[in-house]
Amino acid sequence: MSTARPSALAARTATLVLAVAILAAGCGWSGWDRPMTTVLPKSDFGHRINDLFLLISWWTLGIFIAVEAVLLYACWRFRERPGAATPKQVHGHTALEISWTVAFAVVLLIIGIPTIRIIFKTQEAPAATALRVDVAGRQWWWEFKYPELNITTANEVHIPAGQTVAFHLNAPDVIHSFWIPQLGGKRDVIPGRVNRIILTPDTPGEYPGQCAEYCGMSHANMRFRAIVHTKEDFEKWVAAQQAPPAEPAGELAQKGKELFAQSACVGCHTIRGVSGGVLGPDLTHFGSRKTFAAGTHRVTPENLVKWIENPDHMKPGVLMPNLGMKGEQSRALAAYLLSLK
Ligand code: CUA
Repeated sequence: MSTARPSALAARTATLVLAVAILAAGCGWSGWDRPMTTVLPKSDFGHRINDLFLLISWWTLGIFIAVEAVLLYACWRFRERPGAATPKQVHGHTALEISWTVAFAVVLLIIGIPTIRIIFKTQEAPAATALRVDVAGRQWWWEFKYPELNITTANEVHIPAGQTVAFHLNAPDVIHSFWIPQLGGKRDVIPGRVNRIILTPDTPGEYPGQCAEYCGMSHANMRFRAIVHTKEDFEKWVAAQQAPPAEPAGELAQKGKELFAQSACVGCHTIRGVSGGVLGPDLTHFGSRKTFAAGTHRVTPENLVKWIENPDHMKPGVLMPNLGMKGEQSRALAAYLLSLK
C-alpha cells in the first residue's frame, strides 16, 4: 500500500467501499422474511438474551475505551523527542499486575453471573398452563403439532401473545436447530431426545425462523414463520384449523381433489377425510398458509404449479418426487390446495 501512487490508492479505496456496500446490501432489514435479528426481541426469552448481549457489549466498549485511552496517552507521553533521554526502564510492577488481574476477574463475574442465571432460567420446566407445541425438524421442513388442540400444521407456527408456549423439539432424521431470532433460540433439535424451549411472546406479528444447524442440501431453505396473534385471533385460528377441510368450490379444484386422491400424493400427505400419509406436511388447511416449501415461497397459484411440476428446482434435494404432473393437472392440484382454507 505504501508504494501505491495516490490515484491507485483512491481506486483501491473506492473498490473496497463498493465491495463492502454490495456485501452489506445482502443484509436487508425490511421484507417479508426479515428482519432476522435478535436485537429487536419480542418475547421474555428474547429480552433476556438481548439484555445480556447489551451488558456484555457496554462492558466491552468501556474496556476498549479505557485501554485505548491509556495506550494513546503512553504513546504521546513517551514519544521520541530530540534530545529527550530514554525513559526509565522497569521490569515488573506487583501492584499493577494484581490490579489488572483483579479488575478482569471482576468483569468476568459481572458478565458470568447473569449469564449462568439466564442459562438456568431458560432451562426451567414449563408451567402447567403453557401451550404445548411439538416441533419436528425434518429434512427440510418443520412440523408443528398441538397435542392438546389436536392440530397439525407445517412451517407456520401460530401462538398467542401473552401466553407461555413450550416447544418440545424432536428430529426424526438428522440434527437441526430451532431458531426464531426475535423470539428465542437457538436450540438443537436432536434425533432420539426431546429438547425444550419455553417462551412467552409479547407482541403480535410475524417473525421469521430458520434452521440454524447444517442438516443437508436444503439447510438454508429450511425456514419457517412464527405468527403471534392476539388471544382472540388465536382462538379463531384454532377453530378454523380444527374444522374439517373445505370442500373445493369450482370445477378445477374439484378435479384437483380427485387427482390428489388417485395419485401418489396420498402416500405422504394427510388431508383429513381424504388421505393419511405422514411423510410430508399435513395439507388439511394448506390454503390458509402464506408460505410453503419450508417458508421459502409464497402460496400463489403460479408458485404451486411450478412446485408440483418440479419441486427439486425450488428446494434442491427435496424428498417430494416429481410426479410428472403437467398443464391442467398441476393447475387443478394447485386450485384444490388453495381451496383448503
Ligand atoms: Cu435443518 Cu439445517
